[in-house]
Amino acid sequence: MTTPVVTLRDITAETVRAICELEPHEAQSGFVAPNAVSIAQAHFNPVAVFRAIYADEEPVGFIMWRPEDDGVSCFLWRFMVDGRHQGKGYGREAIALWLEGLRQQGYKLATLSYVPADGGPHAFYLAQGFRDTGETRANGEQLMELAL
Ligand SMILES: CC(C)(COP(=O)(O)OP(=O)(O)OC[C@H]1O[C@@H](n2cnc3c(N)ncnc32)[C@H](O)[C@@H]1OP(=O)(O)O)[C@@H](O)C(=O)NCCC(=O)NCCS
Repeated sequence: MTTPVVTLRDITAETVRAICELEPHEAQSGFVAPNAVSIAQAHFNPVAVFRAIYADEEPVGFIMWRPEDDGVSCFLWRFMVDGRHQGKGYGREAIALWLEGLRQQGYKLATLSYVPADGGPHAFYLAQGFRDTGETRANGEQLMELAL
């Protein structure tokens, strides 16, 4: 069997329900908002960009980001791979595609914040090249960044 091709695709009227039904494992539910909430929030944020993550023709995850006011950095606002599809390299591939897209658009810095907890995504992001900035947000989330 060949390795599925990962792509980031626009969400449409036909696919939105399938994307809203994607969920992380229950123990990870505190790490990311439900996709339906993220998509709703995006519609009230004029600069938010969101895409479904596909493996071949199957929707497997969701990614959403927003450019910062500085014009050079982008913040990874939401990112998840459905529990049934984790551990197959889709998350790594999706982040690589996202970073490559940002580079092509001329951005210089990718940033994110994560919930520091057992089983959380910190080690995943370190493996993708992000580094800790040492800053903590008011909600306890910790910041990471990657120079593009
Ligand atoms: C973080 C997440 C998107 C990773 O997606 P994934 O498709 O399972 O990741 P991949 O299969 O591409 O894993 C890539 C590598 O990271 C590792 N990895 C994945 N999740 C990890 C975790 N939580 N902790 C440590 N390592 C992790 C994998 O073992 C793999 O390592 P390898 O390169 O040595 O094989 C997924 O676990 C998820 O949706 N988590 C819940 C939601 C969440 O925390 N989102 C982030 C909000 S800031």
